Amino acid sequence: HGTSKINAKGHLEIGGCDTVDLKQQYGTPLYIVDEALVRQRCREYMDAFKQSGLTFQVAYASKAFCVMAMCRLVEEEGLSLDVVSEGELYTALQAGFPPERIHFHGNNKTLDELEMAISAGIGCYVVDNFTELHMLQAVAAEKGIAVNVLLRVTPGVEAHTHEFISTGQTDSKFGFDIGNGSAKEAVELASGSLNLRLLGVHSHIGSQIFEVEGFELAIERVARFASDVKETLGVVFKVINLGGGFGIRYTGDDQPLQVSQYVKAITDAVKKHFAEVYAQIPEIWVEPGRSIIGDAGTTLYTVGSTKDIPGVRKYVAVDGGMTDNPRPALYDSKYEAMLANRGNDPHEETVSIAGKCCESGDMLIWDLELPKVNQADLLAVSCTGAYNYAMASNYNRIRRPAVVFVKDGASDVVVKRETLDDIISCDVIPERISKQPS
Ligand code: LLP
Repeated sequence: HGTSKINAKGHLEIGGCDTVDLKQQYGTPLYIVDEALVRQRCREYMDAFKQSGLTFQVAYASKAFCVMAMCRLVEEEGLSLDVVSEGELYTALQAGFPPERIHFHGNNKTLDELEMAISAGIGCYVVDNFTELHMLQAVAAEKGIAVNVLLRVTPGVEAHTHEFISTGQTDSKFGFDIGNGSAKEAVELASGSLNLRLLGVHSHIGSQIFEVEGFELAIERVARFASDVKETLGVVFKVINLGGGFGIRYTGDDQPLQVSQYVKAITDAVKKHFAEVYAQIPEIWVEPGRSIIGDAGTTLYTVGSTKDIPGVRKYVAVDGGMTDNPRPALYDSKYEAMLANRGNDPHEETVSIAGKCCESGDMLIWDLELPKVNQADLLAVSCTGAYNYAMASNYNRIRRPAVVFVKDGASDVVVKRETLDDIISCDVIPERISKQPS
């Protein structure tokens, strides 16, 4: 998919770059991002919303993969940006992302974070709870300004891949509950504040969702809430933010919709349910993360040790693992992979791909069909763009890999591989502990 193909040498090529050459140049493990595919996904969102005729914003949920080059890229494509911490905010600001197109999320923003965001003049705060509502009001009042606010509400819909659960009353750490009156109380507080400009509400129902029914139900409930609020408080929402969660295809078992189909379903549902509530359909904002960057990422590994247990299993170990991709260990996520240096060779054996961490749970893929695997072969795992580098760790003091963007035969490092000095860069030996062997 994307610009990936097997070239004349039988090597996997992405963005016109031979992965065997990329290994030579940058080493492994290496995250490779198909830049054209990321841009294509951004455009699919923007085009589908333009087609809907509604006023909209597409904010890339930077938590999926937040580095300066990525912030630049989505900015060029006209997207907004969702950040959830001072680190993501700092990355975006340092990359020159226009502050007015940054939205600040999170269920426990600190005072420091709010002050940093206010100094930067960011565009919108998605307020999660009463503590934050009061804190933001106080900080804005102190500066004598008014800030844009969305209230995160929990509509009582939880969606996962194929099912969604309609819970009525939600037991969630996020947001104001629509069901128990706290969302309404928050609307009353925010709309009565001189320092908060209440734009509307936000709802996010889950991630890696394939079916549109969960979104449709959430929209229906938010519309009913909007109607109640309009009638009883006289407050009209200008913006409805529906969060992210649009699923992608990791393996053949996954059958997501296309971006345009997700967008059509939610914009249709918004038109339908809000037509009964408002004279004018509100602005629709969304926050896709995974579906922008997920399938554009490939991780390239070098095969090291193998262990064949006759009649049981063959383990093939690669030079990375749960440190660069914790998702299989955390969520039992499934991935597909191929030998990048022998893309045309027929499959001859079933192997399981192990990482190099000192944990039995550090397995990337179970029972993968491959050609006969040898030491020094290159393994390419696909769809690693989202929540991989973003969730990478230094467990076992393993260095985080480099990330390269590839496009039209050019490759550029967007994150350098960590060095051994990076690994110890925050370490301090206190005075009372001798610095030399005794
Ligand atoms: N907006 C909000 C408020 C969110 O909480 C999230 C994701 C998104 C947008 C973006 O969702 P996406 O379009 O990427 O599904 N680490 C997990 C995923 C956690 C998602 C958390 N929130 C994973 O690796 O599957």
